[in-house]
Amino acid sequence: MITFNLPKGAARFIVLQRIELINPFLIKLRKLFGRYIFSNFITKYFLNSNSIAKKYHDVMLKEFSTIERFIKNDDKSFLSIGGGIGGLELIINQNFKDNDYYFIERNYVSKKVRYGWGGMDNEEAYNDLNLQKTFLKINEMNENQINIFDYDNENLPEKKFDVIISLLSLDYHYDFYIYFEYLKKVSKENTKIIFDTIRAEHFKKIFKNVEIIRSDTNTVHKSKRIICSQFLS
Ligand SMILES: C[S@@+](CC[C@H](N)C(=O)[O-])C[C@H]1O[C@@H](n2cnc3c(N)ncnc32)[C@H](O)[C@@H]1O
Repeated sequence: MITFNLPKGAARFIVLQRIELINPFLIKLRKLFGRYIFSNFITKYFLNSNSIAKKYHDVMLKEFSTIERFIKNDDKSFLSIGGGIGGLELIINQNFKDNDYYFIERNYVSKKVRYGWGGMDNEEAYNDLNLQKTFLKINEMNENQINIFDYDNENLPEKKFDVIISLLSLDYHYDFYIYFEYLKKVSKENTKIIFDTIRAEHFKKIFKNVEIIRSDTNTVHKSKRIICSQFLS
């Protein structure tokens, strides 16, 4: 597969989740009209769906290359926190067969989408969970592999996961401690937890093993991608 199939309306969510995918013309429109008009009107009517699908696929392949070496064939149960529409999980699914995917996401678009750190009370979100399910299904994930949970309205899945992934979301966008107790509950000794953060060193107080697997020096946030395992207490 060299691109994703996009259901109608999905391109909008993808660019809100991955603002780097918009072209310079749209960046100008965002500056000119502001974030509210950009999020609610411009992204509805001015996107080229095929081009967004291809760019999103390329970006997700790149993201996959940063984590691929940590995924083993016997990792079967994946949890994605704030995985957006789920492109990364589709790439994982193409490369590793017969896995189960659990997604915790939010089911609305914030009025003004702001990127970056929002702390404990961050209400920023940009997803549509029905659309996400359709997107996963039309890109060859089987219905019985897909488990989607609405963070705001549902009990979160209570099972032990092999791999937990949260790119540009947990501790990048909102505080890790929102999920601290939950992550302890759903982790085994060898569960791999991968996320982006600007305070990588801090996590050495929380996990026995912390490894930096990517450093992003080009962004405003200068975040690091880390892989952690074994809660210390
Ligand atoms: C910047 S996007 C990143 C999406 C995806 N991980 C990617 O790399 O393309 C952040 C995502 O986190 C979701 N989100 C925000 N708050 C959340 C929360 N408390 N729990 C789960 N997801 C959340 C948003 O809806 C959004 O899809």
